[in-house]
Amino acid sequence: MREAMAAAEVGDDVLDRDPTMRALEERVADLVATEDALWTPSGSMANLIALMAHLNRGDTFLAPAGAHVLEAELGTAAWLAGGMPRPLPHDAGPGRISPDAVRRAAAGGRTNAPYYSLRTTLLCVENTHNAAGGTVTAPEEHAALASAARAAGLRVHLDGARLWHAAVALGVPPAALTVGADTVQVCLSKGLGAPVGSLVAGSAEFTGQARRLRKMLGGGVRQGGVLAAAGLVALDRIDRLGEDHERAAILATGLRERGWQVAIPQTNIVLVAVADLEATLRRFTDAGVRASAMAGQVRLVTHADITEVDVAAALERIGAAEPEDSATVPQRRSSGEGSTATRRGLRTATRR
Ligand SMILES: Cc1ncc(COP(=O)(O)O)c(C=O)c1O
Repeated sequence: MREAMAAAEVGDDVLDRDPTMRALEERVADLVATEDALWTPSGSMANLIALMAHLNRGDTFLAPAGAHVLEAELGTAAWLAGGMPRPLPHDAGPGRISPDAVRRAAAGGRTNAPYYSLRTTLLCVENTHNAAGGTVTAPEEHAALASAARAAGLRVHLDGARLWHAAVALGVPPAALTVGADTVQVCLSKGLGAPVGSLVAGSAEFTGQARRLRKMLGGGVRQGGVLAAAGLVALDRIDRLGEDHERAAILATGLRERGWQVAIPQTNIVLVAVADLEATLRRFTDAGVRASAMAGQVRLVTHADITEVDVAAALERIGAAEPEDSATVPQRRSSGEGSTATRRGLRTATRR
C-alpha cells in the first residue's frame, strides 16, 4: 500500500481532478452502482455531506437506534445539517428496523398533521450496524426499507462504512445492498486498512453539490492521489474480509466456552455483555488485549492484522469469566440468531 502511495500519479484535486483520485471514485461508483462518487477524508464527513445535502433545517430524519450518525458524530447531523434525529427501535432484529416502523414514523408528520408539525424527509440506514455488533441487513430487507421510505416521500442515505463486510458475509456484490438509496457512504479505512478515506456516492448532480460541501468543511485535498492509491489497494482486499469474520466467530465461540456472554457475530465485531464495563476493560487492558466500550458492552474487532494465533492468544489472556463478570447481565439475543431470512442469506464464511 505504501509503495502504491509513493508511486501514485497525482494532480490537484481542489483545482482540476487528480487522476488517481478520479480512478478511485469511478471504481467505487461502479462497486456501489451509483452514477458518481466523491472521496472524503472520513466516513463522518461523508455522512455529514449527505445529510447536509438531504436535510433542510428542522427536518426530521429516521435512523436505527445506536446508528453512528446518531451517537458518534458529535451531533453534526443536528448541529451542521440541521436535522432532528428520530431513532427507531430494532424491531426487525439486532441493528435492523422494519418497513412498517419506517412507514409509521414517516406518517407521523403527514396524515392530518397541523401546519406546525415536523417534516420527516430522510431515512438513514446503516449496514453493517456497528453498535449492534456488525449486524447485517440482507438485500431484500434493505430494498423493502428503501421502498417503504421512498413511498412515504423520504430520501434514503445508506451509511455503509462496513458495507463490504455485509456483502462478503452475505456472498453478494456490494451493489445488491444499495438498491433504492439516494446516497451511499463507504469507508476505505477500518477493515480494508487504508490510513484515510471514505466515499460518498450518488447521482452526478449530488456529487457536484457534495464537492462544494466538502470544500466548505475543509475536506478538499490537493495531491490526493497519494491517498487515493491507498484506497485502490484497500479495495483489492474486500474478498479477504471473510477471514476476519471467521476469526471473530472463533473469538466469540471461545469466549462463550469460557463463560462470557457474547453473541456469535455475523461479521468482525464481537460484543461482550458484562456487569462492570470499566472493570472488564481494565482487566482486558492489563492482560494486553485491546478492547473498547460500545453500547454498554466490551467491543473486540478482528481485522487484517489479527491472525488466528492472535485470537488464540487473546482467548488465553482473557481467560474464564468470573461469576461476577456477567451474572447480572441478561442474556442478549445473538446477532447471528436474527430472522431466518437473514440467516439463510449469510454465507458460511463466518460459520465454517
Ligand atoms: C457505521 C459508521 N459510520 C461512520 C463512521 C465514521 O467513520 P470515520 O471514523 O472515518 O469518520 C464509522 C466509524 O466507525 C462507523 O462505524
